[in-house]
Amino acid sequence: MNKRHAYRAIGSAAMLASLTLSGAVFAAEPVGPKLTDKLRGLLVKEMVEIEAAMQATYSAIVQGKHDEVAQRGQAIHDSFILEQSLTEQDRQDLKAAVPKGFLQMDEHFHQLSASLAEAGERQDTQAQVETFNRMTESCVACHSRYVTDRFEGLEDPSIPEGWGHHDGVASEP
Ligand code: HEC
Repeated sequence: MNKRHAYRAIGSAAMLASLTLSGAVFAAEPVGPKLTDKLRGLLVKEMVEIEAAMQATYSAIVQGKHDEVAQRGQAIHDSFILEQSLTEQDRQDLKAAVPKGFLQMDEHFHQLSASLAEAGERQDTQAQVETFNRMTESCVACHSRYVTDRFEGLEDPSIPEGWGHHDGVASEP
């Protein structure tokens, strides 16, 4: 390699590095560290409960236990962090700490849990399966964008942008 080529190689390596960095900055805006201890604790608790409720829902769907699907969907809906009785100050702290895109994903997930409860009430297995899948996409979408400090395995650019969004199209973070 002559000198000129060597410079060019260094130049493109630097460019690649800066591209990778800016990509990482876009994908990884971990939300947890920005929260107060109280809010973070609440969020983690909710997540653990939601995951357990999702597993129970899966089991109920595949066994046609519609009432249980309805109950679990409602429980996920009611227990979700933004809906529970946070003080007004907590609510403001939360909204100030997280990006708008996070709140939108949260809102979308919340709507899906209401749809799941309705699909349970209608005894509509097809809608239950579809909604459950959309909810799983929401988990992955939010984690891959906002929890990269903990879930490195989700730092995957092939995760569709639209997952976790209302119309399936990602908007501004
Ligand atoms: C709107 C964003 C968002 C959505 C949607 C979301 N999560 Fe999370 N989740 C988070 C954040 C943020 C954390 C990390 C909290 C922290 O560590 O500070 C987290 C952490 C978790 C954890 C780890 C909890 C622990 O033990 O620390 C689990 C499990 C989890 N989520 C499950 C789920 C499941 C299952 C779904 C979907 C049914 C889901 N999440 C949907 C934002 C989200």
